[in-house]
Amino acid sequence: MERVNPAQSNSARVKVELGERSYNISIGTDTLCGLGPALKPLDINPVIGLITNPTVSHYYGHTVMDSLRTSGFEPILITIPDGEQYKDILWAYYIYGEMLSNRLDRSSAIAALGGGVIGDITGFVASTYMRGIPYIQVPTTLLSHVDSSVGGKTGINHPLGKNMIGSFYQPRLVWVDIATLKTLPRREFIAGLAEVIKYGVIADSVLFEYLEDNREKIISLEADTITYIVKRSCEIKASVVAADEKEAGFRAILNYGHTIGHAIETITAYREFLHGEAVAIGMLYAAGIAKDMGMLKEDEFKRISSLIRIYGLPYEIPKDISVPAIHEAVKVDKKRKAGRIRMVLPEGIGRVSIVSLDSIP
Ligand code: NAD
Ligand code: GLY
Repeated sequence: MERVNPAQSNSARVKVELGERSYNISIGTDTLCGLGPALKPLDINPVIGLITNPTVSHYYGHTVMDSLRTSGFEPILITIPDGEQYKDILWAYYIYGEMLSNRLDRSSAIAALGGGVIGDITGFVASTYMRGIPYIQVPTTLLSHVDSSVGGKTGINHPLGKNMIGSFYQPRLVWVDIATLKTLPRREFIAGLAEVIKYGVIADSVLFEYLEDNREKIISLEADTITYIVKRSCEIKASVVAADEKEAGFRAILNYGHTIGHAIETITAYREFLHGEAVAIGMLYAAGIAKDMGMLKEDEFKRISSLIRIYGLPYEIPKDISVPAIHEAVKVDKKRKAGRIRMVLPEGIGRVSIVSLDSIP
């Protein structure tokens, strides 16, 4: 079969269609300096809070602050420590305090410059500060380019559970600069690719084939190639969110690999695997269940398995984690409904269905 090469551009725009709350995802290369001009049409107050962490600020803080200032904004830099453990109510409270003391009001906006941690806490603060102010996502990890910055899930962690407190609150703009991936640690980049593979399995066999055929270009961050995989991922996420913004049902297909993935993260206390790595294991395990149930052909299972492996993602549940332990962890997951475990299982490359199981096979 002849395979097409759809990557032809190093910029793209994707719209998330949500009526009055629709917004654009702008994907470009070296575009952080263009953020200020891009915010001008949004009609927001000049005083704008830029939420980030020291790691990301070191690389990109100056560029973004300069761009905002040059466009007439008065940016206030608000920095929280780097790490998942700071995505909590205490650091949200700290951000509220900085915003209040810098006189951000109901017409002000905040922008998240960073990965999913910064994006989630910024969205949460935006949704609650003065009953809701606009916010902008400026994601800087692959995971945040293709997943967390899009779709309006905001959240913070509680000691008793990850992402247990949050809201659905859409950003006004998502500004993706793929050049930020050049400074991202390699392991974080590869973990983000797991979410891209997810989109291929759940919705797009062409994207899946593209990932099979273009490993070298992807690994070397070739701009057209990365633009294409980010754009397709955002298009798929945007269409799912437009169809089911608050996860009444269909949006759950985005959780492919996440039931087992979250269980592995919980059991290993979030220390052993990055999120995408755990999702990769979960995707292959779910594909194995689908194969054993006769839903997925053997050759398609093998393609999912080898795609996960060629990108160097982990693919096996660690030997010291038992299936009953996974079952126990799944029991407290948000994805469980009426006592049954809901799992997203592939029916083929590009097609999934949501099934209810009594236990993890
Ligand atoms: P992260 O935000 O912790 O970033 C990973 C690391 O990379 C951090 O140390 C960060 O400082 C650093 N970093 C970020 N950008 C960089 C860059 N360009 N160069 C160098 N270093 C950089 O991790 P993540 O994987 O982006 O996000 C994980 C978070 O996203 C989790 O809290 C998860 O719950 C959340 N999430 C949310 C959604 C959603 O829909 N809201 C979806 C998936 C994940
Ligand atoms: N990351 C899954 C979702 O946004 O629904």
